[in-house]
Amino acid sequence: MDRLGLDYIDLYLIHCPWGHQALSEDEEKNFGGRPAYKDDCPIPNSFDHREMWKALEDAVDAGLVKEIGLSNFDNSQVQYILDQCRIKPFNNQVEIHPWIDQSELVDFHKQNDISVTSFMSLGRAGRSAAHGGNLFENELLDKIAKKYKVTIAQLLLKYQLQRGIIIVPKRKLVQMSTPKDTRENSSQV
Ligand SMILES: NC(=O)c1ccc[n+]([C@@H]2O[C@H](COP(=O)([O-])OP(=O)(O)OC[C@H]3O[C@@H](n4cnc5c(N)ncnc54)[C@H](OP(=O)(O)O)[C@@H]3O)[C@@H](O)[C@H]2O)c1
Repeated sequence: MDRLGLDYIDLYLIHCPWGHQALSEDEEKNFGGRPAYKDDCPIPNSFDHREMWKALEDAVDAGLVKEIGLSNFDNSQVQYILDQCRIKPFNNQVEIHPWIDQSELVDFHKQNDISVTSFMSLGRAGRSAAHGGNLFENELLDKIAKKYKVTIAQLLLKYQLQRGIIIVPKRKLVQMSTPKDTRENSSQV
Protein backbone atom coordinates (compact mmCIF):
# COMPACT_ATOMS: atom_id res chain seq x y z
CA MET A 1 0.00 0.00 0.00
CA ASP A 2 2.86 2.39 0.86
CA ARG A 3 4.51 1.71 -2.49
CA LEU A 4 1.25 2.31 -4.34
CA GLY A 5 0.37 5.37 -2.26
CA LEU A 6 -3.12 4.00 -1.64
CA ASP A 7 -5.31 3.31 1.40
CA TYR A 8 -7.08 0.43 -0.29
CA ILE A 9 -7.21 -1.43 -3.62
CA ASP A 10 -10.47 -1.76 -5.58
CA LEU A 11 -9.67 -5.10 -7.21
CA TYR A 12 -6.67 -7.34 -6.46
CA LEU A 13 -5.94 -10.29 -8.75
CA ILE A 14 -3.74 -13.37 -8.48
CA HIS A 15 -1.73 -12.96 -11.69
CA CYS A 16 -1.54 -16.63 -12.63
CA PRO A 17 -2.30 -20.12 -11.38
CA TRP A 18 1.31 -21.28 -11.62
CA GLY A 19 3.92 -20.45 -9.01
CA HIS A 20 7.56 -19.40 -9.01
CA GLN A 21 10.19 -19.81 -6.34
CA ALA A 22 10.68 -16.66 -4.28
CA LEU A 23 14.04 -14.90 -3.97
CA SER A 24 16.08 -15.25 -0.82
CA GLU A 25 15.97 -12.25 1.53
CA ASP A 26 19.39 -11.04 0.29
CA GLU A 27 18.47 -11.41 -3.39
CA GLU A 28 15.17 -9.62 -2.76
CA LYS A 29 17.13 -6.48 -1.80
CA ASN A 30 18.79 -6.38 -5.25
CA PHE A 31 16.18 -7.98 -7.50
CA GLY A 32 12.90 -7.35 -5.65
CA GLY A 33 9.73 -7.89 -7.66
CA ARG A 34 10.85 -10.89 -9.67
CA PRO A 35 11.08 -14.64 -8.98
CA ALA A 36 14.28 -16.65 -8.51
CA TYR A 37 15.96 -17.65 -11.81
CA LYS A 38 18.07 -20.59 -12.92
CA ASP A 39 19.58 -20.80 -16.43
CA ASP A 40 17.67 -17.67 -17.47
CA CYS A 41 14.30 -19.20 -16.52
CA PRO A 42 12.10 -18.52 -13.49
CA ILE A 43 12.20 -21.55 -11.17
CA PRO A 44 8.73 -23.10 -10.92
CA ASN A 45 7.21 -23.81 -7.55
CA SER A 46 3.99 -25.61 -6.70
CA PHE A 47 1.53 -24.08 -4.28
CA ASP A 48 -2.07 -24.57 -3.25
CA HIS A 49 -4.38 -21.92 -4.75
CA ARG A 50 -6.54 -22.16 -1.61
CA GLU A 51 -3.72 -20.86 0.59
CA MET A 52 -3.20 -17.81 -1.56
CA TRP A 53 -6.95 -17.22 -1.77
CA LYS A 54 -7.22 -17.30 2.04
CA ALA A 55 -4.54 -14.57 2.19
CA LEU A 56 -6.58 -12.44 -0.21
CA GLU A 57 -9.73 -13.01 1.88
CA ASP A 58 -7.77 -11.80 4.91
CA ALA A 59 -6.81 -8.66 2.95
CA VAL A 60 -10.53 -7.99 2.34
CA ASP A 61 -11.31 -8.54 6.05
CA ALA A 62 -8.55 -6.06 6.94
CA GLY A 63 -10.14 -3.44 4.66
CA LEU A 64 -7.08 -3.30 2.38
CA VAL A 65 -8.89 -4.65 -0.67
CA LYS A 66 -12.50 -4.23 -1.84
CA GLU A 67 -12.72 -7.11 -4.32
CA ILE A 68 -10.45 -10.06 -5.08
CA GLY A 69 -10.05 -12.02 -8.27
CA LEU A 70 -7.97 -14.24 -10.51
CA SER A 71 -6.08 -14.07 -13.77
CA ASN A 72 -5.19 -16.79 -16.28
CA PHE A 73 -7.19 -19.36 -14.26
CA ASP A 74 -9.09 -22.00 -16.25
CA ASN A 75 -12.56 -23.29 -15.30
CA SER A 76 -11.33 -26.18 -13.16
CA GLN A 77 -8.95 -23.92 -11.24
CA VAL A 78 -11.77 -21.40 -10.64
CA GLN A 79 -14.05 -24.23 -9.51
CA TYR A 80 -11.38 -25.34 -7.03
CA ILE A 81 -11.47 -21.86 -5.45
CA LEU A 82 -15.29 -21.77 -5.52
CA ASP A 83 -15.43 -25.10 -3.67
CA GLN A 84 -13.38 -23.74 -0.78
CA CYS A 85 -13.80 -19.98 -0.65
CA ARG A 86 -15.43 -17.74 1.92
CA ILE A 87 -15.41 -14.77 -0.50
CA LYS A 88 -16.14 -15.50 -4.15
CA PRO A 89 -13.77 -14.35 -6.91
CA PHE A 90 -15.12 -11.11 -8.38
CA ASN A 91 -13.26 -11.29 -11.68
CA ASN A 92 -10.99 -13.45 -13.85
CA GLN A 93 -8.68 -11.67 -16.34
CA VAL A 94 -7.68 -13.83 -19.30
CA GLU A 95 -6.46 -13.52 -22.89
CA ILE A 96 -9.51 -13.12 -25.15
CA HIS A 97 -9.71 -12.04 -28.80
CA PRO A 98 -11.07 -13.66 -31.97
CA TRP A 99 -8.22 -16.21 -32.08
CA ILE A 100 -8.78 -17.17 -28.42
CA ASP A 101 -12.53 -16.91 -28.06
CA GLN A 102 -12.79 -18.51 -24.57
CA SER A 103 -16.55 -19.19 -25.04
CA GLU A 104 -16.56 -22.10 -22.60
CA LEU A 105 -14.74 -20.05 -19.96
CA VAL A 106 -17.05 -17.05 -20.50
CA ASP A 107 -20.17 -19.24 -20.14
CA PHE A 108 -18.81 -20.87 -16.98
CA HIS A 109 -18.12 -17.48 -15.41
CA LYS A 110 -21.59 -16.15 -16.37
CA GLN A 111 -23.19 -19.18 -14.70
CA ASN A 112 -21.16 -18.47 -11.57
CA ASP A 113 -21.72 -14.70 -11.67
CA ILE A 114 -18.00 -13.87 -11.97
CA SER A 115 -17.04 -11.02 -14.30
CA VAL A 116 -14.47 -11.68 -17.03
CA THR A 117 -11.86 -9.23 -18.30
CA SER A 118 -10.14 -9.66 -21.64
CA PHE A 119 -6.49 -8.76 -21.97
CA MET A 120 -4.94 -8.55 -25.43
CA SER A 121 -8.41 -7.81 -26.85
CA LEU A 122 -6.60 -6.50 -29.94
CA GLY A 123 -4.69 -9.75 -30.42
CA ARG A 124 -0.96 -10.27 -30.31
CA ALA A 125 0.64 -7.92 -32.82
CA GLY A 126 3.41 -10.31 -33.85
CA ARG A 127 1.15 -13.33 -34.40
CA SER A 128 2.37 -15.33 -37.39
CA ALA A 129 0.09 -16.50 -40.18
CA ALA A 130 0.35 -20.04 -38.77
CA HIS A 131 -1.28 -18.75 -35.58
CA GLY A 132 -4.08 -16.85 -37.26
CA GLY A 133 -2.09 -13.75 -38.21
CA ASN A 134 -2.25 -10.13 -37.06
CA LEU A 135 -5.90 -9.14 -36.55
CA PHE A 136 -5.19 -5.67 -37.94
CA GLU A 137 -4.32 -7.32 -41.27
CA ASN A 138 -7.31 -9.66 -41.34
CA GLU A 139 -9.40 -9.29 -44.51
CA LEU A 140 -12.72 -10.31 -42.96
CA LEU A 141 -12.32 -7.90 -40.04
CA ASP A 142 -11.34 -5.17 -42.50
CA LYS A 143 -14.51 -5.85 -44.50
CA ILE A 144 -16.74 -5.75 -41.40
CA ALA A 145 -15.03 -2.61 -40.07
CA LYS A 146 -15.56 -0.84 -43.40
CA LYS A 147 -19.21 -1.94 -43.47
CA TYR A 148 -19.86 -0.35 -40.05
CA LYS A 149 -17.50 2.61 -40.68
CA VAL A 150 -15.36 1.85 -37.63
CA THR A 151 -11.71 0.93 -37.14
CA ILE A 152 -10.64 -2.69 -36.66
CA ALA A 153 -9.56 -1.75 -33.12
CA GLN A 154 -13.05 -0.40 -32.36
CA LEU A 155 -14.62 -3.54 -33.85
CA LEU A 156 -12.45 -5.84 -31.71
CA LEU A 157 -13.25 -3.95 -28.51
CA LYS A 158 -16.99 -3.69 -29.21
CA TYR A 159 -17.08 -7.44 -29.93
CA GLN A 160 -15.94 -8.17 -26.36
CA LEU A 161 -18.23 -5.54 -24.81
CA GLN A 162 -21.23 -7.04 -26.62
CA ARG A 163 -20.32 -10.43 -25.13
CA GLY A 164 -20.46 -8.85 -21.65
CA ILE A 165 -16.67 -8.92 -21.27
CA ILE A 166 -14.68 -6.09 -19.66
CA ILE A 167 -11.79 -4.66 -21.72
CA VAL A 168 -8.55 -3.01 -20.58
CA PRO A 169 -6.86 -1.90 -23.82
CA LYS A 170 -3.87 0.37 -23.75
CA ARG A 171 -1.69 2.43 -26.05
CA LYS A 172 1.61 4.12 -25.45
CA LEU A 173 0.52 7.69 -24.66
CA VAL A 174 3.31 9.17 -26.72
CA GLN A 175 1.90 7.44 -29.80
CA MET A 176 -1.67 8.60 -29.19
CA SER A 177 -0.66 12.19 -29.81
CA THR A 178 2.04 11.85 -32.43
CA PRO A 179 1.07 13.12 -35.89
CA LYS A 180 3.46 10.60 -37.46
CA ASP A 181 1.27 7.68 -36.41
CA THR A 182 -0.26 6.45 -39.63
CA ARG A 183 -2.25 3.63 -38.14
CA GLU A 184 -5.98 3.83 -38.57
CA ASN A 185 -7.73 6.42 -36.43
CA SER A 186 -6.23 5.02 -33.24
CA SER A 187 -7.06 8.01 -31.06
CA GLN A 188 -10.74 7.12 -31.29
CA VAL A 189 -10.12 3.90 -29.38
N1 LIG B 1 -3.21 -10.81 -16.62
C1 LIG B 1 -2.27 -11.01 -17.51
O1 LIG B 1 -1.60 -12.05 -17.56
C2 LIG B 1 -2.02 -9.92 -18.52
C3 LIG B 1 -1.22 -10.19 -19.67
C4 LIG B 1 -1.04 -9.16 -20.60
C5 LIG B 1 -1.61 -7.92 -20.39
N2 LIG B 1 -2.36 -7.69 -19.26
C6 LIG B 1 -2.96 -6.36 -19.00
O2 LIG B 1 -3.89 -6.04 -20.02
C7 LIG B 1 -3.91 -4.62 -20.22
C8 LIG B 1 -3.81 -4.35 -21.70
O3 LIG B 1 -2.54 -4.76 -22.15
P1 LIG B 1 -2.36 -5.64 -23.45
O4 LIG B 1 -0.95 -6.02 -23.55
O5 LIG B 1 -3.40 -6.70 -23.46
O6 LIG B 1 -2.62 -4.57 -24.54
P2 LIG B 1 -3.77 -4.44 -25.62
O7 LIG B 1 -4.58 -3.31 -25.17
O8 LIG B 1 -4.45 -5.67 -26.03
O9 LIG B 1 -2.90 -4.10 -26.86
C9 LIG B 1 -1.80 -3.26 -26.84
C10 LIG B 1 -1.15 -3.40 -28.19
O10 LIG B 1 -2.08 -3.01 -29.20
C11 LIG B 1 -1.55 -1.93 -29.92
N3 LIG B 1 -2.63 -0.99 -30.24
C12 LIG B 1 -3.41 -0.32 -29.38
N4 LIG B 1 -4.32 0.41 -30.05
C13 LIG B 1 -4.08 0.18 -31.38
C14 LIG B 1 -4.69 0.64 -32.57
N5 LIG B 1 -5.73 1.47 -32.56
N6 LIG B 1 -4.20 0.22 -33.74
C15 LIG B 1 -3.15 -0.64 -33.77
N7 LIG B 1 -2.54 -1.12 -32.67
C16 LIG B 1 -3.01 -0.72 -31.50
C17 LIG B 1 -0.52 -1.29 -29.02
O11 LIG B 1 0.44 -0.69 -29.79
P3 LIG B 1 1.49 0.35 -29.17
O12 LIG B 1 2.33 -0.41 -28.18
O13 LIG B 1 2.25 0.78 -30.36
O14 LIG B 1 0.70 1.43 -28.53
C18 LIG B 1 0.03 -2.50 -28.29
O15 LIG B 1 1.01 -3.19 -29.05
C19 LIG B 1 -2.78 -4.04 -19.38
O16 LIG B 1 -3.32 -3.46 -18.23
C20 LIG B 1 -1.93 -5.26 -19.04
O17 LIG B 1 -1.32 -5.14 -17.78
C21 LIG B 1 -2.57 -8.67 -18.34
